[in-house]
Amino acid sequence: MIQTVVLSTPRAVSTAVADFLTRAVGSTPGLVLGLPAGGTPIPLYRALVDRYRAGRIDFSRVATFNLDEFCGLAPDDPRTYRAFMRTHLFDHVNIPLERAHLLDGAARRWREEIAQFETKLAALGGLDLAIVGIGNNGHIAFNEPGPALIARTHRVRLTPATRRANAEAFGNRWRAVPTHGLTMGMGTIASARGVVLIATGAHKATIVRRALTGMVTPQVPASLLQLHPNLVVTLDRAAAAKL
Ligand code: GLP
Repeated sequence: MIQTVVLSTPRAVSTAVADFLTRAVGSTPGLVLGLPAGGTPIPLYRALVDRYRAGRIDFSRVATFNLDEFCGLAPDDPRTYRAFMRTHLFDHVNIPLERAHLLDGAARRWREEIAQFETKLAALGGLDLAIVGIGNNGHIAFNEPGPALIARTHRVRLTPATRRANAEAFGNRWRAVPTHGLTMGMGTIASARGVVLIATGAHKATIVRRALTGMVTPQVPASLLQLHPNLVVTLDRAAAAKL
């Protein structure tokens, strides 16, 4: 069942999801979280840092698994999602870095890298909660629209739409954005016991409608989440305008 929560502003969305996570970590200190990059979660991460500084949330036993990463960038490259996560969350809270798992997009032996990632996640019992954004083309993480989806963590060729959407960190030159990424598959993500989809802004309204009320199809990877038994969709009014 989809539970849809519509709030007035992106700030209200981040507050609500941060409060939800604060309660979840409070009752399950060893929570295993799937975390997204992108513009949408930045206010959420800020809200979590605020709650940490106020002593309201303790990440010391939490484990995190980021959903995706660019291929071909060194792990210390400031344009990686690894750097993004340090800037916006990991450098400001007490998540032990050895429990903050990110795919290494520079790994030459990427097949081993994705297998190890799945093994580590499975060893912790899979995701308790996946926080996900949605791409303008309906992607979740780097699961791009197409005739079929790969269920588990894999390497993927990024669409021009996704490279354009990520161009800001690359001097607004979309051709400078890596051509490939590593990503959790929709099966890995949808195996989470709970999924929280967040979307904000009028530019997300059309894809939010297609994903939540349209056909379930790999052409809109986010639509697969309609099948999830415990999906909470948190939107601002602008992103919910076409529902
Ligand atoms: C990026 C990321 C996704 C993210 C999506 C939306 O390509 N790989 O994980 O959810 O696009 O990003 P934004 O929140 O900036 O709209």
